[in-house]
Amino acid sequence: MNKIISCNNLKKSFYIKNKTLNVLNDISFDIEKGKTTSIVGESGSGKSTIANIIAGLLKPTSGRVFFENLSIFDNTSVNKASFVKATFDKRKVFRKNIQMIFQDPYLSLNPKMRVLDIILEPLKIHEKFSKEKLLKIADDILQKVNLSSTVKKRFSHQLSGGQRQRVAIARAIILNPKFIILDEPLSSLDVSIASGIINLLIDLQKNLGLTYLFISHDLKVVKYISDSVSVLYMGKFLEKAKTNQIFSNPLHPYTQALIESSFTFRKNQTKILLNSEIPSLLDPPKGCLFSTRCPFAKKICFDARPELKEIEKDHFVACHLVKDASNTFGRAKTTSSSL
Ligand SMILES: Nc1ncnc2c1ncn2[C@@H]1O[C@H](COP(=O)(O)OP(=O)(O)OP(=O)(O)O)[C@@H](O)[C@H]1O
Ligand SMILES: [Mg+2]
Repeated sequence: MNKIISCNNLKKSFYIKNKTLNVLNDISFDIEKGKTTSIVGESGSGKSTIANIIAGLLKPTSGRVFFENLSIFDNTSVNKASFVKATFDKRKVFRKNIQMIFQDPYLSLNPKMRVLDIILEPLKIHEKFSKEKLLKIADDILQKVNLSSTVKKRFSHQLSGGQRQRVAIARAIILNPKFIILDEPLSSLDVSIASGIINLLIDLQKNLGLTYLFISHDLKVVKYISDSVSVLYMGKFLEKAKTNQIFSNPLHPYTQALIESSFTFRKNQTKILLNSEIPSLLDPPKGCLFSTRCPFAKKICFDARPELKEIEKDHFVACHLVKDASNTFGRAKTTSSSL
């Protein structure tokens, strides 16, 4: 795999009133260059925590993150040849190449700035250009995100939700980044506007060679946009696979339940209902984190925490009960297109 990001053994804990909240429990994964990797999971599973760590906004308690062999949080490197001595220069590389788009562009865009200044701001920090050149760049970038150049003079509250998210995308791509983290970028938009943004993201990826980390609750969108999917539960991956494998042959009961609750019209479904509460991170189950909600849980599931194992090529599952790719807990396999 030609990877752009590697996360190795990430742990993140928050400390609240002498209690420890283990939000990420030893997460390792790679993001393939030029592809879209998605993370799915219920609210509170730790998706934004991973996003913020990779973006350099939050320090992990332990573990390391590499962007093209450069370690994001310290001055060491996987590859000595690419060691960048000056922390300042290294930070500049990350700021230019790693961009983040948030759920609510209303909050992420400065309300006191006009669109022109919002989109040019990152460029002004990194490069020196004449006023004319900046205007030309702004017009080009607005065209790339399908916005009319008349929005340049407006403030963000004078735009629609879809236009605001396009401005956020314009600002994110203006430095020609390699990697963009999209944390629930569509949840504040209605369906028709969201589909325009999805298609824009796909076009930009194709034209600019971008890599995406896509975080979403919406499995229909995830299925449409992703090359691979990781399923997060209480700060641990329960399943990781290529998108087609996840949707045609989900092996973990939790993945099956997530998919079934998103595609309720699907045939051959077993009823794994996610109606019980996620356990508290302050008192997580000792064995499998999903054991308290799993209808198939056996003694071993309550006693020991399963690690991710490669069950078939590129398909990893953390479940004591899944021994091979034909174990579907009684549910017939579906082809991805029949979902
Ligand atoms: N600064 C913080 N201090 C204490 N706890 C935090 C902090 N940030 C996040 N958490 C906790 O960490 C857990 C994971 O939060 P995170 O925001 O990563 O979840 P998420 O999967 O992005 O959820 P959502 O889908 O609702 O956005 C939650 O229980 C949250 O309350
Ligand atoms: Mg979040």
